[in-house]
Amino acid sequence: MRDAAFIYELCDYPLNRYQLNLNEVLFHNANGYIGVRYDFEEGYPERYDFTPSQYINGFYDYAKLPQAERLYGLAAEKQTILNIANTQTIKISFDGEEFNMFSGTVLENKLSLDMKRGTTLRKVKWRSASGKEIQLKVTRMASFYQLPLFIIDYEAELLNFSGPVVIESVHDGAVLNYTNPADPRIAGECIQYLTPISCEIKQGASYITSQTSKSGLEICSCVKHRLLNEHQYEFIVYNQKAVCRYDILAKAGENIRLIKYAVFCDSIRYPNCRQQAENEIEQALAVPLEYLYKKQADYLTDYWHNCMVEIQGDDSLNNAIHFNLYQLIQSVGKDQYSNIAPKGLSGDGYEGHYFWDSEMFIHPFFTITNPAISKTLIEYRYATLDMARKNAKIMGHKKGALYPWRTIMGSECSGFFPAGSAQYHINGDVAYSIIAYYLATKDIEFIQSTGAEIIFETARLWLDVGNFYNGQFHINGVTGPDEYTCIVNNNYYTNVLAQYHLTWAVKFYYLLEKNQGLSLLTEKIQLHSQEIEEFRRAAENMYLPYDENLKINPQDDSFLQKSLWDLESIPKDKYPLLLHYHPLHLYRHQICKQADTVMAHFILEDAQDEETMLNSFKYYEKITTHDSSLSTCIYSIMAARLGMHQLAYDYFRISARLDLDDVHNNTQDGIHAANMGGSYMAIVYGFGGFRLKEQGISFAPFLPDSWTAYSFIICFENSRILVQVEKNQCVFTLEYGQEKTISVYGKEYLLQDCLRIPR
Ligand code: BGC
Repeated sequence: MRDAAFIYELCDYPLNRYQLNLNEVLFHNANGYIGVRYDFEEGYPERYDFTPSQYINGFYDYAKLPQAERLYGLAAEKQTILNIANTQTIKISFDGEEFNMFSGTVLENKLSLDMKRGTTLRKVKWRSASGKEIQLKVTRMASFYQLPLFIIDYEAELLNFSGPVVIESVHDGAVLNYTNPADPRIAGECIQYLTPISCEIKQGASYITSQTSKSGLEICSCVKHRLLNEHQYEFIVYNQKAVCRYDILAKAGENIRLIKYAVFCDSIRYPNCRQQAENEIEQALAVPLEYLYKKQADYLTDYWHNCMVEIQGDDSLNNAIHFNLYQLIQSVGKDQYSNIAPKGLSGDGYEGHYFWDSEMFIHPFFTITNPAISKTLIEYRYATLDMARKNAKIMGHKKGALYPWRTIMGSECSGFFPAGSAQYHINGDVAYSIIAYYLATKDIEFIQSTGAEIIFETARLWLDVGNFYNGQFHINGVTGPDEYTCIVNNNYYTNVLAQYHLTWAVKFYYLLEKNQGLSLLTEKIQLHSQEIEEFRRAAENMYLPYDENLKINPQDDSFLQKSLWDLESIPKDKYPLLLHYHPLHLYRHQICKQADTVMAHFILEDAQDEETMLNSFKYYEKITTHDSSLSTCIYSIMAARLGMHQLAYDYFRISARLDLDDVHNNTQDGIHAANMGGSYMAIVYGFGGFRLKEQGISFAPFLPDSWTAYSFIICFENSRILVQVEKNQCVFTLEYGQEKTISVYGKEYLLQDCLRIPR
């Protein structure tokens, strides 16, 4: 693999507010624990009104969730991710002239992300008003090796001048969250959540400990520097800020190099976060920086080895898919206290909440490349199972568990229940991801210890939320994935997923019983075979809406009765519709924000025949706005599945470059992580025709016309299989592990070493 395919760079980008905000996201550094948006170290002019932002995955405070009418059971409080202490700021001046990009002359300007090294690099050549020339090189890294660690490796070379240089490196505890009252996808209210309670200097390091206002959590950040040039320094501490000032007498040609180490430790993971910060900073400084860079690169070598995807014939898409996969490993939580937020750790859009995005768009990638990560994500859901039980009670259910639509620590944070809490399919989504993990790994011990309890408790909810009517099992009063159609009866996606979920609950029950792995659990949750038989009866009699005239699955019972609304007639500036039309107006039309029934046909294709899926696809495509970024990837996969190869490719292009091209005009609020997982799926599940089922794994690859080849690697039951799709053949190579039976274009093969199958 060429290194260039793993570098994304921007040269001479405009210095306007919009582009700089976008760059903060595209070049943010994260490792699943900390995330730091890319703010210029020297800052911006005041008029830009920027807040340097950095976050910790799963670290939150509570905020009021005002409901105009306090109906019973509506969430009164939400969690919100917090902007934590700023350790990014470094100001530098040369004989009294302060460097910034908005004064003097910028002669060269480049930002790049190296996805193999795991670092970003900023290069600037700058001339001051009086003619001093400086070459700046700043490398940043959020360490995968030591999760609390973020480093800025700051180099300034004096090209044509000798004299005094002053550096002021800031560690600032007085921070606020970013807000935008005009956009419902971002928090609107400006509240100070974090209050610094101490700011101290010890052995050349600054420590700021802050407390949340309501959640009772603490976070300690510590900053320590290494300056490789002769200097004098002093600390200035004021207003919860520690400024480390360096005075250097530098010569022309000298390279000034300051390494700024910052660690962040929170009290969720570390009971004594102040002490932990001290341990972490010592650990980071105990080794040469080169060692930390090497560990970062090693981590990513493994990562790319496990999830390699390579497109030949289109460098821009090849680069984009690497960018997307890089963002996924930057974003995904690495412990049971966190998951993966829609914006990853690149922005506070959606307030850092976790949604079904994880299970249905991101798990499928990790499950077949790094199953250990999917396991950790499931552990997070397990850790919040008690909260889901409580949530079920609040929603009036007698037993079982209902996962909240959006949350950080486990309780519901949805402010608008018709498009939030009513999305009961979240239970099926969580179950689906556990079943997929099992199918990919056959890790029955994990199902026994963790997965089964979630599956059973969430399955129970279906029995309570649904009921038999005319001999069939109906699920009423829920919302499916399409948020432009709310609170309906028998949403096809929900029902077919509930059916699958219930069927697997029955399977797991008998499988565990056979393995004698059930008694402790059934006792704990009081589950008896009688209830399991009720699961079976509901699954076997699940009502799945079908329309005889159109020969499609209606999205729900009333969907086809509504008025049609010609998408072509809607002015372009009225998209996304959610920002321009009252919800009721949307609900009264046959209009979809995102794939719903089409998504159901992807995840559970065996529930319908080919003709129904094709008809449904054509029907829903005309009325889907793709206002949600979770949509085009699914349309790509289904277009591929149904033989519409060019259409699949067109949808894929949008999905693959959605953030790089800022397709939704809101990447500045954060990446679209679910779509990134979806763009991977569009290659592997779409073009590659990969499926993971109880019967095993299968492929039905095709090659998009404009590509010469593509390849990907998947992990199945501990074996790694490399798939190369070329013009006239597909090559399957067993890279590691035991032989496997695979199905290709509907025919079974035993893969022992290498198989070449003509296309
Ligand atoms: C989508 C949801 C998604 C959420 C977070 C919304 O716009 O409609 O399906 O879970 O964004 O990504």
